Amino acid sequence: MASFKFHASTALSYVLCLCLLCSPALAIKRAYVVYLGEHSHQDSDLYSAELKQRVADSHHQFLASSLGSKQRAREAIYNSYHNHINGFAAVLEEEDAAKIARKKHTTNSWEFLNMNAEGFIRRDSLWKQANFGEDIIIANLDTGVWPDSKSFSDEGYGPIPAKWRGTCDKTKISCNKKLIGARYFSKGYEEISGKLNASVKTPVDHEGHGTHTLSTLGGNFVHGAKVFGFNAGTAKGGSPRARVASYKVCWPPVGKNGECFDSDILEAFDWAIHDQVDVLSLSIGGMPTAYFNDAAAIGAFHAVKKGIVVICSAGNEGPGEGTVTNVAPWIITVGASTISREFLSYVKLRNGKLLKGASLSGPLSMMKFYPLINAADAKAVNASVDKALLCEAETLDPNKVKGKIVVCLRGENDRVAKSLNAYHAGAVGMILCNNEENANDISADAHIIAASHLTYDDGQILYAYLNSTKYPAGYITPPSSHLGQLRAPSMAVFSSRGPNTVTPDILKPDITAPGVDIIAAFSEEVYPDGHETDHRVTPFNIESGTSMACPHVSGVVGLLKKIHPGWSAAAIKSAIITTATTRDNFRRLILSGPRKEATPFDYGGGHIQPNLAMDPGLVYDLNVDDYLNFLCGMGYNSTVMKTFSDGSYNCHHKYNLLNFNYPSITVGKLSADGTTTVLRTLKNVGTPGTYRARVLQPQGVSVSVLPSTLTFDKIGQEKSFELILEPKITKESNNSVFGELLWSDGKHNVRSPIVVSSIVA
Ligand SMILES: *[C@@H]1O[C@H](CO)[C@@H](O)[C@H](O)[C@H]1NC(C)=O
Ligand SMILES: *[C@@H]1O[C@H](CO)[C@@H](O)[C@H](O)[C@H]1NC(C)=O
Ligand SMILES: *[C@@H]1O[C@H](CO)[C@@H](O)[C@H](O)[C@H]1NC(C)=O
Ligand SMILES: *[C@@H]1O[C@H](CO)[C@@H](O)[C@H](O)[C@H]1NC(C)=O
Ligand SMILES: *[C@@H]1O[C@H](CO)[C@@H](O)[C@H](O)[C@H]1NC(C)=O
Repeated sequence: MASFKFHASTALSYVLCLCLLCSPALAIKRAYVVYLGEHSHQDSDLYSAELKQRVADSHHQFLASSLGSKQRAREAIYNSYHNHINGFAAVLEEEDAAKIARKKHTTNSWEFLNMNAEGFIRRDSLWKQANFGEDIIIANLDTGVWPDSKSFSDEGYGPIPAKWRGTCDKTKISCNKKLIGARYFSKGYEEISGKLNASVKTPVDHEGHGTHTLSTLGGNFVHGAKVFGFNAGTAKGGSPRARVASYKVCWPPVGKNGECFDSDILEAFDWAIHDQVDVLSLSIGGMPTAYFNDAAAIGAFHAVKKGIVVICSAGNEGPGEGTVTNVAPWIITVGASTISREFLSYVKLRNGKLLKGASLSGPLSMMKFYPLINAADAKAVNASVDKALLCEAETLDPNKVKGKIVVCLRGENDRVAKSLNAYHAGAVGMILCNNEENANDISADAHIIAASHLTYDDGQILYAYLNSTKYPAGYITPPSSHLGQLRAPSMAVFSSRGPNTVTPDILKPDITAPGVDIIAAFSEEVYPDGHETDHRVTPFNIESGTSMACPHVSGVVGLLKKIHPGWSAAAIKSAIITTATTRDNFRRLILSGPRKEATPFDYGGGHIQPNLAMDPGLVYDLNVDDYLNFLCGMGYNSTVMKTFSDGSYNCHHKYNLLNFNYPSITVGKLSADGTTTVLRTLKNVGTPGTYRARVLQPQGVSVSVLPSTLTFDKIGQEKSFELILEPKITKESNNSVFGELLWSDGKHNVRSPIVVSSIVA
């Protein structure tokens, strides 16, 4: 029996970012809907002219504060919503919209995905078109849920959708019309790890992970979300008007990262399918393994068979090759990348130097210079210098540290634990310096004392200053958020990478989405990072991991389900993959590491673009028989095939995996002599039209498309084509090469990555 872990990276994992200057935006006028939340007035007031006027005035005033004049605001606003939704529609220049957005832009992964500029929802956006995912039912399999979070308040929600058959363990937790289900599954866990204490055997989240992922996929708009008192703006999920349900399958007591067992996962899938969820999100995973041994793959197969879309995290085992997990072709597998928002906190030295760091920690109690001390110089008599330098537990001498800011070196120990150790020794602040040359990844953590995380170069400046003076002193500025100056997305270092070790002919991961420094709801029954001596609770928290990326895609899938209720899981996946981008916010290729461009092994199709996924033009569709043919092509015998079908499926012909109608094209082994042909079929889901193929050839491989023009007369029509690959070199090569196939009608661009992993003789 395999054990699963969840894919939140511990504070050890680090992230890569490069800093450039921001380029100015062009002045383009567009219609925006400015969303300010909900009105709180009584129903009886609704029709009064006075109320209408009051609301309109407040909107004019709101906009005037950004545009500079009430006159301009009045001209711009063409509709004020005054009943339930508090918002207005206005024609604005992009620059002005961005200016207003910048006012409160911290929880901005959805802004980064162009769903809106915070508060501004474009009328043609997926959010608006899909009515915010209203009444779609999205669930996760995770550590449970904190039901009292405002992200799951049912204020303003109508009756629960009639099809819902799920329940809530009412003796242990209270559900409502937003959080419509909460169950727990522990039999498998208890069988192996022993009986759970009755007080924890509930659907309640004692870890924080499940609450974070559930609110990321479907949490309400919550204004003034606070992370340990830091005002983080408006929190919201991808499908903010969806109904959500929690299936708890992970239990924390064994090991810090918790465990989630196969049999509990399967039981949860079984109930989720019974309960009629539309979308299932799993930010958990084990080692990549054969599909018939993989609970998530088996459970997901049965869910997909019933029309449920299943989204899983790719894992945090990167950046090594072949680390991606949850690779079944009926799953959407999600990698993690950065967004352009930074939480900055500067270190001011008494000598005048200003160093830029990252932080989401509280401020120092006074605005004055505090004495600084190198942790190595503050070592306790019985501690080693090496351990003290890293601020490990019980290595700092309280007599030397009290009232000071301690300078700690980054290493393998948990970042937040370092500041906790410094705090226990009496320090008022901590500065964390990267220890590896060129390491310019800095993390905004919520430390227990004022703190700032510096790059390697800035750390060297700081250490030199400490050496240069007898009484070094400094100040840490309170953190503030900054947008748009950072090149993003770039792949998170920890995000698991391809190739797919279970089926090399299927590209995994499928897509990347924001997964670094994500702010979402948290459980107030948990201490952050499991530090028993850190007794702070927070309604929202900042977390990183493919665990955080996965629910971003799940939220988008909820919206796509709302717009296209008839689409299969494969059609939705195809739409997401073929509309993704390989470029960052500076229109340069997404990076995988320092000066290293990312490949499909990092991000599959690329970075998700939700607004484009709504109208992909064409999709590569698949049905249950295709999946069974795929398993047959894997060489699975009739015994293990029964895991997936009731026995009526006969696996007798030789199925070529290369022809599996996946939206990306991967040839694990290309034969050096002669040509290899790959078949694909496209289905029209847009307007009738003629599409032309364009190929970006992988290095050393010539690719042609036959036919190279496809005309679709009506919706639902299918057309097939061949992709013919021929190596231009005759000798063996183990270097993976990448290209792309693009079908375009001028309006829709249907882009598939082409991957050739090796050329064999
Ligand atoms: C269950 O947990 C409670 C609260 O932590 C504790 O007081 C009690 O001793 C535990 N019981 C068992 C059987 O471990
Ligand atoms: C050093 O001594 C203190 C006090 O006796 C003790 O609490 C601590 O654990 C010791 N630290 C190490 C690293 O041995
Ligand atoms: C600071 O001094 C220590 C001890 O003398 C030395 O090892 C270190 O290299 C110096 N650091 C810098 C940045 O000058
Ligand atoms: C079928 O395949 C499984 C997994 O490889 C293997 O354990 C089993 O022995 C096979 N059964 C038969 C009848 O070949
Ligand atoms: C490619 O990899 C295979 C398997 O690891 C190895 O046997 C072969 O020698 C390699 N070929 C080249 C050209 O490196």
